[in-house]
Amino acid sequence: MAKSKVRIHFLCRECGGTQPKWIGRCPDCGAWDSMEEFRETPAAADDSPLGAGAAARAADAPKAKPLSELANDADGGLLMRWSTGIAELDRVLGGMTEETPGSDGSSSKDSPANATAAKSPAAPAKSVSTGGGIVPGSAILLGGDPGIGKSTLLLQAARKLAASGRRTLYVTSEESAAQLRLRAERVGADGDTGEQLFVLADTNVARILEQARQVRPDVMIVDSIQMIYQGDLAAAPGSVTQLRSCTQEMTYFAKSSGCAVVFVGHVTKEGRLAGPRLLEHMVDTVLYFEGDRYHSHRILRAIKNRFGATLEVGLFEMTGAGLEEASNHRGLLADEYQPMAGSVVCPVMQGTRCLLVEIQALTVPGFPGSVKRKVSGVDGSRLAMLIAVLEKRGGMQLSDQDVFASSVGGMKVSEPGADLAVALAITGAHMNRQPDVGTCAVGEIGLGGELRHVQQLEQRIREAARLGFDHIICPKSRVTPPSGCTLHPVARLDEAIQLLQ
Ligand code: TYD
Ligand code: MG
Repeated sequence: MAKSKVRIHFLCRECGGTQPKWIGRCPDCGAWDSMEEFRETPAAADDSPLGAGAAARAADAPKAKPLSELANDADGGLLMRWSTGIAELDRVLGGMTEETPGSDGSSSKDSPANATAAKSPAAPAKSVSTGGGIVPGSAILLGGDPGIGKSTLLLQAARKLAASGRRTLYVTSEESAAQLRLRAERVGADGDTGEQLFVLADTNVARILEQARQVRPDVMIVDSIQMIYQGDLAAAPGSVTQLRSCTQEMTYFAKSSGCAVVFVGHVTKEGRLAGPRLLEHMVDTVLYFEGDRYHSHRILRAIKNRFGATLEVGLFEMTGAGLEEASNHRGLLADEYQPMAGSVVCPVMQGTRCLLVEIQALTVPGFPGSVKRKVSGVDGSRLAMLIAVLEKRGGMQLSDQDVFASSVGGMKVSEPGADLAVALAITGAHMNRQPDVGTCAVGEIGLGGELRHVQQLEQRIREAARLGFDHIICPKSRVTPPSGCTLHPVARLDEAIQLLQ
C-alpha cells in the first residue's frame, strides 16, 4: 500500500466543514474564528471513512449483500430494540419495545458478536406497540446543560438495562468510580444490577475500547465524550480533532460489534453542543435534556433520530432520589395552579402527546421608543406578531409597554396553537383580567385577528378535560366535547378577550 503523509486540514468547530488552509471565516456556515487544525493520520487517510485504521481491515469487513437478505437481517437486528426500562426515555428513542424473554429479567444475554445478526425467532419476545428503546449498534448523543441530570438519567437507564439482562458498561470520564457509586446509592442503582453493570473510570479511547472488547457490553455509556482523548493526537481533549477522532472510533465499534453507544455531550452557553456540529452528524440519534435546572421538571427531546420520530418528548421530574417519570402526573402544570391575571393554560401538542402548559405574561410601562419584548420558552417573533395584532385588532395600546412572556416549567412552546393563550395572557396582564377557573385556551391567530383551526383539537380537548379544564376557548370546529366539558368557540380574538373576567 502506498505510504501517505500526515495531511493537515482545518475543521470548522461549528459546522464540521473542512478547508485546506486556515481562514478567519468558515465559508460553509459563516462562523468567525472557528477553524481548528486537524491532522489526518495516514491510517485513517488511506482506510475506511470511519478512520478506524487496522480495525477496519479486519477479516470481518462488511460484504455486499442483496437487499432482500438485508431485510431479513433487519427483522431480527436493526428493528429490534432494547427497552431501557424508563418508558419516557424509550418513547423519545422511538420504535417498538422488545420485551426480554422471561419476566424475571433472567433472560440470557446475547453476545455482542451476534447482536446484529438475526435473533432466534423462537424467542417468545412480546412486542408492545407503545414506547421503544435502544437500537442495537446505534450511536446516541445526549446533550444538555451541566447539572441538568444527564448522568443521573443514564445511570438509572444503565441500572434498568442491567437488571433486564443487558450487559452495560458505564464509562465515567468526569467522575471517579467512587463518585459514581455515591450517585448510584442515591438513585438506588446498586443492589439489583447483579453482574451486568460494569463501571470504568478512564479517559483514553484505546483503553476504553480494549475494556469494551473484553467486557462485551450490549450498551456502553460514555459520560462524557468531551473528556475522552486519543493518545497519539497532539490536540487537547474536547478539541475538534479529539472529538471527531474519538467519536469515530467509538461509533465504528458500535457498528461493528452491535453494542449501542450512548455519548454524553455538554452544551455551550448558547445552548449548542460544545464542539462541532459534526458530532451530531456522526451519531444516529441526538437527544437534548432541557428544562430549568432550578425547577424540578426536565424535558427530553429528540433533535435527530434515524430510527424514530423527532417530535416526541419525555417528561421527568428531578427528585431527591433521581429522576422520576412524570408521564402520569399533571405534566408540567403545577398541582397548585390557580388562574390569575396574565396567566392562561394551553393544551400544547408535543409529538403524539398533549401537555398542558401555563403561559404567563406581564406588561409594565417601558421607556417610549425602546420598549422590551422578552420571552422565555415562547417564540419571540410570534410574540411580536401577537402584540401587533392585539394593537390593531384588539384595540390595545402596547407600544409604550415592556412585554414579557414565558412558559412555566421550561417547555419550549413554538407551535402557533399557543397563540391564543399568549394573546390572552398579555391581555389579562395588561387589563388585569383573568380566565375563569378551569378555563384553557388554544388556537392560532392570523394577522387579521381571526382564529384558525389547530391540529388534533379533539385530543387537546380530551386531555384538558381529563385534567379538570372543562371550559375550553378554541376556534370553531365540529368536535364534540366529552360530557361535563364546555367549548367556547370563537371566530375572532376580540370575542375571546370578552371571555376574560
Ligand atoms: P447530573 O446527573 O450530575 O447532571 P449532568 O450529568 O447533566 O451534569 O445531575 C446533577 C444535579 O441533579 C445536581 O444538581 C443534583 C441533582 N440531583 C438530584 O436532585 N437528585 C438526585 O438523586 C441526583 C443524583 C442528582
Ligand atoms: Mg454528568
